[in-house]
Formats: sequence, structure tokens, C-alpha cells
Amino acid sequence: MSSVGSEKCAIPHEAALDIERVLIPEEEILRRVRELSSQIESDYAESKNKLVLLGILKGSVVFMAELMKHIRIPVEIDFMKVSSYGGGTTSSGNVEIKLDIRRRDIEESDILIVEDIIDSGRTLSYLVEYLKLRGAASVRTVTLLDKPSRRTVDFVPDYTGFTVPDEFVVGYGLDFDEKYRALPFIGVLKPEFYEK
Ligand code: IMP
Ligand code: MG
Repeated sequence: MSSVGSEKCAIPHEAALDIERVLIPEEEILRRVRELSSQIESDYAESKNKLVLLGILKGSVVFMAELMKHIRIPVEIDFMKVSSYGGGTTSSGNVEIKLDIRRRDIEESDILIVEDIIDSGRTLSYLVEYLKLRGAASVRTVTLLDKPSRRTVDFVPDYTGFTVPDEFVVGYGLDFDEKYRALPFIGVLKPEFYEK
């Protein structure tokens, strides 16, 4: 079993050896996600529209799966894929839609965009505008993590799991170079793995 700092990783995870320290352990994430689910549930309970959780691939999938299980009103799910990172740890600044949402009922849909982390804010500010232009009944955002110190555009999410410092984090869906997504916690990568 791999040991990460003082935290034990529940499953033997080769990737955990590349982690400098655990920032948010799994139990804490699960507790916070349940709080977000019940907040979302009560905020949308009276709406006449469909609630659509729109996951942004690929980083949001673990968070989204946990979040949807605890929302006890009907939800539908959909996905978009966008890229703002050219690879590595810096944003390219451009948002490119790689997989678009296809719904005939967008005008009767309350869209809640589900994101893994907000950094510059460019991805979500672009997507919120885009979905409003497409005619969504409402558009809100929920992010597992927020790094407000890195903003280059003004953007405040409607729901935030945790505010994190300006460090590159992986796990619970978040990757570096497609690795570490399956780690069950949020951790800080050892700098030698991304400083080339
Ligand atoms: P933004 O458009 O700069 O807000 O970029 C947000 C996207 O950048 C996220 O959806 C992630 O894919 C990626 N990202 C930003 N910071 C991190 C990080 O610390 N770890 C992993 N991915 C990150
Ligand atoms: Mg992402």
C-alpha cells in the first residue's frame, strides 16, 4: 500500500508515489460533495425546467458521478469537451469546443455546468455565455476546486467545493498529461514531474 505523507492511500496506487502531499483527502471531498448536492437540490426543487448537469470532459467525471448520486430530484446529464490547456500546466488562453452539447430542449433546461477546477476563469466564462446564446433557460456553474488567485477574467462560480492555493493539483479526475485522474484524493504533484 502506498503511503503519501502522513495520509494512507486506501488502494495501492502506483501514481500516488508521484504525489508530494495530499491536499484534500477523499473523506473530506465526499463530505463536501454531499453538501453541494443538497444545496443544489433545494435551489432547483421548485424549477419547472429540466435540471441538466453538464460535465466538462474529462476532469469533471469523478466529481460529477459523486454529485449526481446525492441530488434527490430528477437530473439529466450531458457532456461537453473543451480545451484551453495546450498541455503542461499553463493555459493557452483560447477555448476550443471539441464536443458540443446536442439537445432539442435546451430552452426548457436549467444547465448546471460541472467543472473540476477554475484557474484563469476563461473556460467557464466562455461556456456560460455560449450556453446562454444557445438559449438555455438558466446557466449556473459548480466547480470542485477554485484557484481565485489565478484569474485573468472576472468569474465567480455559483457553487464551489474548495478554494485551493496556486499549486498544480491532480487526482479525483484532475490530470497532468492524462495521468493521476484515478487517484481518490486531491494531491500536489512533486515538482520534478512537471518541471522539465
Ligand atoms: P481555466 O480556463 O484557466 O479556468 O482552466 C480550467 C481548466 O484548466 C480546468 O478544467 C483544468 O482542465 C485545467 N487546470 C487548471 N488548473 C489545474 C490544476 O491545478 N490541475 C489540473 N488541471 C488544471
Ligand atoms: Mg477541465
